[in-house]
Amino acid sequence: MSTPSPSPVGRPRGGRVDLSMAPGTVDPGEDEAAETLEGEIGPTGRPRRHVPEPPLVDSHGPATVLAICNQKGGVGKTTSTINLGAALAECGRRVLLVDFDPQGALSVGLGVQPHQLDTTIYNVIMERAVGVRDVVMKTPAEGMHLLPSNIDLSAAEVQLVAEVGREQTLARVLRPVLSEYDYILVDCQPSLGLLTVNALAAADGVLIPLECEFFSLRGVALLIDTIEKVRERLNPKLEITGILATMFDPRTLHSREVMARVVEAFGDIVFDTVINRTVRFPETTVAGEPITRWAPRSAGAKAYRALAREVIAR
Ligand SMILES: Nc1ncnc2c1ncn2[C@@H]1O[C@H](COP(=O)(O)OP(=O)(O)OP(=O)(O)O)[C@@H](O)[C@H]1O
Ligand SMILES: [Mg+2]
Repeated sequence: MSTPSPSPVGRPRGGRVDLSMAPGTVDPGEDEAAETLEGEIGPTGRPRRHVPEPPLVDSHGPATVLAICNQKGGVGKTTSTINLGAALAECGRRVLLVDFDPQGALSVGLGVQPHQLDTTIYNVIMERAVGVRDVVMKTPAEGMHLLPSNIDLSAAEVQLVAEVGREQTLARVLRPVLSEYDYILVDCQPSLGLLTVNALAAADGVLIPLECEFFSLRGVALLIDTIEKVRERLNPKLEITGILATMFDPRTLHSREVMARVVEAFGDIVFDTVINRTVRFPETTVAGEPITRWAPRSAGAKAYRALAREVIAR
């Protein structure tokens, strides 16, 4: 009983926690959400587009920096950062995840206790003597590193205001490590404040997770407006990489209606990959692992792998 699981996916002892689910919850598990093939109508209501196999890479960098951004809370930013990152790492990409939220949920989701850390992203952006390499940590996913954060980062928002080049701080500190990674994913906090502007100023692209809920479209106009201002004033290369529909429930008309409106409003930038609502994701947070390791054959893991292929192809 006490021997650690030698399973190749490194699942913690005890295996999959099916018993933890509330009675009556549907476990989408491994078989539901049958994958749609190229050309078939997918959950977006459009035919799935062709996505080429990700080419193998034998050298790394310079990194594409993606800000995972939506000022609405609880839409799946952190979940998408962890699981997209892990899926990109499975494709042989070197990935750095930046926890840019003082709540530290990204760090917790990868098994780190943020309040126990002496140095975090806060020290990297506020202290010239501390670099990314001094703070970066390994994660349960091979090839994926983490710049953790904790509540200290909330002070940065105030302290940065007095700094020269305050909006470009994250871009400046990431520059020395761009050559070491293929993707740097920045998990933003749910606000459009100075930290988020820093993430947008450092990014090549923005990935917007959008919950399939009635009110989710409100606020997206403001987000896109902010992205356009950052592009004009700070970072001309910034693009919207894509909009990711999350928490989709294929059984409800409501989810399908919201999905149709999202596709109508944003067209081709909506990823063909859609993330269904499933208890697997809260479970993985407790496990401190990406879903690609915790439940490698689950529909959720497959969806984030499909998203990784789309991201590599864009
Ligand atoms: N597809 C999903 N199905 C069900 N639950 C999900 C899904 N994605 C995320 N969750 C859960 O919803 C909650 C919010 O997700 P997450 O933390 O990723 O959102 P967020 O946008 O980062 O939130 P915040 O704005 O607070 O940073 C978490 O408990 C997470 O486990
Ligand atoms: Mg979050």
